[in-house]
Amino acid sequence: MVSNTASQAARLSVAPMMDWTDRHCRYLHRLMSARTLLYTEMVTAPALVRGGALHLLDYNAEEHPVAVQLGGSDPAELAEATALCAAHGYDEINLNVGCPSDRVQSGCFGAVLMERPALVAECVSAMIRASNVEVTVKCRIGVDKQDPETVLPDFIARMRDAGVTRLAVHARKAWLQGLSPKENRDIPPLDYDLVLRMKQQFPDLHISVNGGIESLEQAKGFLKDGLDGVMIGRAAYHTPCDILLRADHEIFGEAGVKTAHDVVQEMRPYIARHVEQGGKLAQVTRHMLGMFTGRPGARHWRRVLSEHGHRAGAGLEVLDEALSHIPEKD
Ligand SMILES: Cc1cc2nc3c(=O)[nH]c(=O)nc-3n(C[C@H](O)[C@H](O)[C@H](O)COP(=O)(O)O)c2cc1C
Repeated sequence: MVSNTASQAARLSVAPMMDWTDRHCRYLHRLMSARTLLYTEMVTAPALVRGGALHLLDYNAEEHPVAVQLGGSDPAELAEATALCAAHGYDEINLNVGCPSDRVQSGCFGAVLMERPALVAECVSAMIRASNVEVTVKCRIGVDKQDPETVLPDFIARMRDAGVTRLAVHARKAWLQGLSPKENRDIPPLDYDLVLRMKQQFPDLHISVNGGIESLEQAKGFLKDGLDGVMIGRAAYHTPCDILLRADHEIFGEAGVKTAHDVVQEMRPYIARHVEQGGKLAQVTRHMLGMFTGRPGARHWRRVLSEHGHRAGAGLEVLDEALSHIPEKD
């Protein structure tokens, strides 16, 4: 059997995305690629530790290798949350130092922590001590007026000294004043070159680049340039077939490529079980809307699923109706 640890899988990963990379989405992505590392949505340490919301850690056994992303800035609380995540069997525990949403800033989570590297180092040391599961960090290149050329190497060195061996860097600043979280994913310019230089400066660390990567060709370019991994967010979600169906072959060197039709068929038992247990069809199929993007019938596929997937009692017949608009070969 191929060994598929989180760090091997991190050659390609699907980024953590709130409201998007839930367990249904990850199940779908796993069917498309057996090798790619999948991240959960961010789960906050206070929700787990103070709120006891352990259901947030539920996942399907098929999802491995799967990494949970934590948000928080209190070392003791993050350590406790880490122990809970480890007990749930996650393959990696990632700390969010990149997400700029207001809610996250107000709790002192996410990108605002780029300004407090000593505290982040304390957090990751406490997390590392709390379990045997690998602890990683997802960060930006800086925030607001910080100079990434000095801030990023200092931040990475502190992470390394605290025991972190793997990081994903979203290659743009977060502007915490004046931009919405959505704008913060597009407006601050990308600086891939700085991330590449970080790999040269820290050759022993596993460094993944994230931000604006839209194709496997582009991903392969970064790997060829020496980076250890590529993390893709929106493109993997919106056009999963372009990114994930070919990933095992193109990025991990495996033989054989499934079709989108194969994956829809493989989703059927999962969807049937979900609906039988009282779930809504759309909770699963909303993640499948982009499966045929760019191919004949894609508009009908999206329309049928969007319009009928929410109906009470909607089941596999809606999926079949949507699929009937797609020519067999796709
Ligand atoms: C809907 C959405 C939710 C996101 N939620 C998170 C999150 O919970 N944690 C995080 O670190 N980043 C989050 N991000 C940022 C992504 O992980 C990623 O860094 C960003 O989208 C840039 O990568 P991309 O250009 O490949 O999408 C989110 C992005 C989107 C689009």
